[in-house]
Amino acid sequence: MGRVTFTAPITLPGLTLDLQWYRRSVFYEVMVRSFYDSNGDGSGDLAGLISRLDYLQWLGVDALWLPPFFASPLRDGGYDVADYTQILPEFGTLDEFRELVTKAHERNMRIVIDLPLNHTSDQHPWFQASRSDPDGPYGDFYVWSDTDEKWPDIRIIFPDYEDSNWAFDSVRRQFYFHRFFSHQPDLNFTNPRVHEAVIDVVRFWLDLGVDGFRLDAIPYLYESDEGNGEGEPETHEFIKKLRAIVDRDYPGRIMIAEANQWPREVAAFFGTDEEPECHMAFDFPVMPRIFYSLRSQSADELVAVLSETTDVPSWAAWGVFLRNHDELTLEMVSEEYRQAMYGWYAYDPRMRVNVGIRRRLATLLDNSRAELELAHALLFALPGSPFLYYGDEIGMGDNIWLPDRDSSRTPMQWTPDRNAGFSSADPGKLYLPVVQSLVYHYSQVNVESQLAQSRSLLHWIRNVIHVRKAHPVFGLGSIEVLDTDNPAVLAFVRSYAGAGTPVGDQPEDVLCVFSFAHNPVAVTIDAPGFAGAELFDLFGGHRFPSIDDDGRLHLTLGTQGFFWLKAVRR
Ligand code: BGC
Repeated sequence: MGRVTFTAPITLPGLTLDLQWYRRSVFYEVMVRSFYDSNGDGSGDLAGLISRLDYLQWLGVDALWLPPFFASPLRDGGYDVADYTQILPEFGTLDEFRELVTKAHERNMRIVIDLPLNHTSDQHPWFQASRSDPDGPYGDFYVWSDTDEKWPDIRIIFPDYEDSNWAFDSVRRQFYFHRFFSHQPDLNFTNPRVHEAVIDVVRFWLDLGVDGFRLDAIPYLYESDEGNGEGEPETHEFIKKLRAIVDRDYPGRIMIAEANQWPREVAAFFGTDEEPECHMAFDFPVMPRIFYSLRSQSADELVAVLSETTDVPSWAAWGVFLRNHDELTLEMVSEEYRQAMYGWYAYDPRMRVNVGIRRRLATLLDNSRAELELAHALLFALPGSPFLYYGDEIGMGDNIWLPDRDSSRTPMQWTPDRNAGFSSADPGKLYLPVVQSLVYHYSQVNVESQLAQSRSLLHWIRNVIHVRKAHPVFGLGSIEVLDTDNPAVLAFVRSYAGAGTPVGDQPEDVLCVFSFAHNPVAVTIDAPGFAGAELFDLFGGHRFPSIDDDGRLHLTLGTQGFFWLKAVRR
């Protein structure tokens, strides 16, 4: 089959495949280990996840992102892969994985898996062969050197654990390069056989039916003497090659870049129309600035970063998020802002790890319902597709007495029963203990009790998800940031012309307004293109004061309040 470029939806009898489904999807990150233990061994598993798909469907989730569940010594939460095509036995079997894909697809839910291609575990047979047989077929699979002084400008990503990107191997008697933990040697992408091997892995999972990949640590594939080892030109070439394979042989499957970089550098991972790279990229530039705004009571940083990240291909989608399984990274903010963030959010040094904060969303926001709502309202209104982290929909807490990022990877809290209903195992056998802190104890914070309260955070988030999904403008529309006379207020219009997709053929404009002030405020917003427009609240439908004939709107907002207002132009 020759190269085919798909731009329009593919229509089969009775079925329309929207190739840009990812632009309208709500994603949910769930670690197999953490969600539900079906066999009482203390660890979550695939069968457990399958049994909870109804819950995720009810919540309104369109796609799951599963961090690695492959064979692994689990020294880095599974990001240390020992075999890319085997499932860790405690998580289940390949047949169960196939069943997960089928059952998810039956619910119109997609499965995106994580692929750490930059490195493997030192337990991977490729590494074992490489260290013991330098002249053998795997001898050149990793980045070996006689000295540990090469590339001194490449930063260390885990400074709390590593003081060099090189480690000495006593078998081969050479140094190997590692961007992350020293037990995670980097693969050598200058070796074409490494390309073949990882492309085989990609095909293996696509043939099993997965809908896409999160490309873990993707900026770091290549190193060079001139660059800093982040987004080197050869790395982008490799991603283009991967994208061409996906587009040609697996249209409709997606690639998501995990590139924790400065705004323009992250945007580069989308590529261009002519040379596309990833369909999506996590919005690392926006994420820390949301948290900054919540405490600084100023929208300035967000306004600045939003204007920097708009110029991307029309099919590209940001993956916006508040939290994930890693620390809230502060690598890409200035030193001054980083110190402010530590002061606000990580006042106990135990809350920090590497260059970031290892806490969950609810604890970061001190369980403030107003802030949780504001943060989610913003998340769901920003350009791109939102990614939720399991448990944040019920405001789960964390456990900073656990090491590293395990603090926010504890078992999902389903009920007030033993082990929070996660597992029937002896509590001491759980892979991590359930949260039992004063405020976030599982006896209070759990799915069952929130289902029983119509005003719970869980019901609130589900409602927002459904409102968002009823308005394609949020996924597909453009953004225009508006001037306001109050620095605490962020206002933007999302606009969608309503054409070109199999869904949502109505043009729509939605004015979104967020107040970061810790007290009520009045604000005047300039919306020159909307003079005379009528405004209606998107949740209740109630009419608001119209924008005046000069294109100005006067509003008052309660403490940390927000509005989503449908604008009907005159
Ligand atoms: C993952 C981390 C992991 C690292 C090294 C990432 O960026 O998100 O959880 O520790 O890659 O594999």
